[in-house]
Amino acid sequence: MAVDQEKELAARTSLRFVRDGSVVGLGSGSTAAYAVRLLGERVRAGLQIRGIPTSVQTQGLAASLGIPLTTLEEVQQIDVTVDGTDEFDPELRLIKGGGGALLREKIVASATRQEIIIADSSKQVSVLGKFPLPVEVIRFAQALVSKKISALGATVQLRKNTAGEPFITDEGHHILDCHFEQIPDPPALAYTLSEIPGVVEHGLFIDLADVVLVGNGSEVLELRRKPHS
Ligand code: A5P
Repeated sequence: MAVDQEKELAARTSLRFVRDGSVVGLGSGSTAAYAVRLLGERVRAGLQIRGIPTSVQTQGLAASLGIPLTTLEEVQQIDVTVDGTDEFDPELRLIKGGGGALLREKIVASATRQEIIIADSSKQVSVLGKFPLPVEVIRFAQALVSKKISALGATVQLRKNTAGEPFITDEGHHILDCHFEQIPDPPALAYTLSEIPGVVEHGLFIDLADVVLVGNGSEVLELRRKPHS
């Protein structure tokens, strides 16, 4: 319950970053869904935005709320995106993809001027890696990629759906959940993973989050990414 309150508070605060006339990236997951519902209320009250959803699920939610949608064919620059996260560290590096939407989420984040991440306080960590890192893979290469990531020190599990079948992403791929426990050097791991043939995308988001809004009890902390020195 307290967690839900923190999620909703963070989502409510994120609306301050959404201006009339903006193109807005719509994140995925339970925290982002709070923001999408609140945006739906604002749209019904007259706010003019166009949304770019980061998953089929968010697309359905936004459409059901009457939020006008657009696509990356129509616009290649997104003003602001509001999305959730599975973990964030002091440098605002993230692990995302617990819901399986990491690929579209990263594409949308990369095309966004201001990436706003909303989270409850349980998502804050000093070192990333307790949450298993999702890696989206081409099915053909899955066993090979799994072996290579295991050799990096992770315990790797193919994600399954509730029926016990492999989980299929919106883009038709599989996900490997990689238990590292600790990721001391996220940029190095990100580079290593992206060099493995068959890896479509991984859930490490580095230098993408501009602001993290953390619900903390009844208040919201606003953390801003510092530029590299
Ligand atoms: C979706 O693939 C994820 O990246 C979510 O943003 C992340 O898993 C956070 O989800 P919750 O807000 O449901 O915790």
